[in-house]
Amino acid sequence: MLSHITAARDAALASIASAATLDEVNDLTSRLTGKKGDLAQLKTRLGSLASIDDKKAAGQAINDAMAAVAAALESRRAALGSEALAARIERERLDLTEFVGAPKRGHAHLVTQAWERLEDTFVGMGFQIAEGPEVETDWHNFEALNMGDGHPARGEFDTLFVDHVPPGGVAGTTLLRTHTSPVQIRTMLTQEPPIYIVAPGRVFRRDTPDATHMPVFHQIEGLVVDRHITMADLAGTIEAFTKAFFGAGFTSRLRPSYFPFTEPSAEFDIQRPNGDWIELGGCGMVHPNVLRAGGLDPEEWSGFAFGFGIDRMAKERHGVDDIREMYSDDIRFAEQF
Ligand code: FA5
Repeated sequence: MLSHITAARDAALASIASAATLDEVNDLTSRLTGKKGDLAQLKTRLGSLASIDDKKAAGQAINDAMAAVAAALESRRAALGSEALAARIERERLDLTEFVGAPKRGHAHLVTQAWERLEDTFVGMGFQIAEGPEVETDWHNFEALNMGDGHPARGEFDTLFVDHVPPGGVAGTTLLRTHTSPVQIRTMLTQEPPIYIVAPGRVFRRDTPDATHMPVFHQIEGLVVDRHITMADLAGTIEAFTKAFFGAGFTSRLRPSYFPFTEPSAEFDIQRPNGDWIELGGCGMVHPNVLRAGGLDPEEWSGFAFGFGIDRMAKERHGVDDIREMYSDDIRFAEQF
C-alpha cells in the first residue's frame, strides 16, 4: 500500500511540474484532488488493510501525499501566474515618453507676439500695464471722452451695442468698446497722478473685413498725466518707442489731426528705412474735459495719450499683405513665421 501511495504522489508531482499553462494546472487540480484521483481512490481501500497500525500509517501517508500535491499545485499556479502577468505587461507595454523624431513646436499668434513685445517695450520705458472691460458703458467709451450724445465723431466708430440694460440704467447704453481709450478714464478715476500706463486690449467695430480692417481687432492705449507735460514729451516718447520697437533705422512723425478727446491731436506715422511712411495710430494732449471727467483739475495736471492698432503693427512687422490672413487659422500661413 505504501509503495502505491508513493508512486501515485510522485506521478502527480511529475505531471504538475510539467504543466505549461494555468489551464493545465486547473485540469490537474480537479483530476488529482477530486474523488476520482489516485490518492482519493487509495483512501477508499484503507478499510481492506488488516491491522490498525497499517491503516494509521497508510492514512497518514495519503494525507501527507495529498498535502504535497496541493502545495505543488499552488506553487506551480503562482509561478505560471506571475510569468503570464510579466508576459502580458511586456506585450502591452506603452512608452508614453517615446517620440519619433524631434517634437514640432508651435508659436504664439502674430498679434499675441506683437502685444507682448509692445508691453515689454513700454515697461522698459517705465510704463505700467492697465486694463479695462471689453463690454463698456456709453459714458466711458464716448461721453467722458468728450463725445456727448449726438457728437458727430460717434458715427465714425460704428458701434456694436449690447442688449443689456444696467440696473436703473437706460437701454442702448452698453456696448462693445470701440477703442481702448475708455481705459484712460478708468485709470484716472482709480489712480492718483503721476500716471504712466499702457493698456493693450481687444476692441470691436461694425467694420467690414478687408485688407486693413477687422471687426474685432486690438489696440494699445497710452496715457501720461503729470505736471508740466507738453507736446514735446509726446513727440519724444513716440520717437523713443519707434526706435525701441522697430529698430534704430526707423523714425516717426506727427501729422495734425482731430480727436474729440485730445487737443491738439495728431496722427502718428513711422518711416521705414526705405523711406515709406506708415500710419500707426492717433495721439494728442489730453483734452481738459477728459481730465475733468477723470476727476482731475486741468489747471494742475496735463498729459498726453496715444492709441494704435496692434494688428496693423503685426501685419507691418511681418510683411503680411492682408490682415485677414492672420485670422484665417490656415496652418500653411502660420507655419511661415
Ligand atoms: C482711435 O481709436 C483713438 N482712440 C486713438 C487715440 C487714442 C487717439 C488716444 C488719440 C489719443 P482710430 O479710430 O484712428 O483712433 O484707431 C486707431 C488705430 O486702430 C488705427 O490707426 C488703426 O491702426 C487701428 N484700427 C482702426 N480700425 C481698425 C480695424 N477695423 N481693423 C484693424 N485695425 C484698426
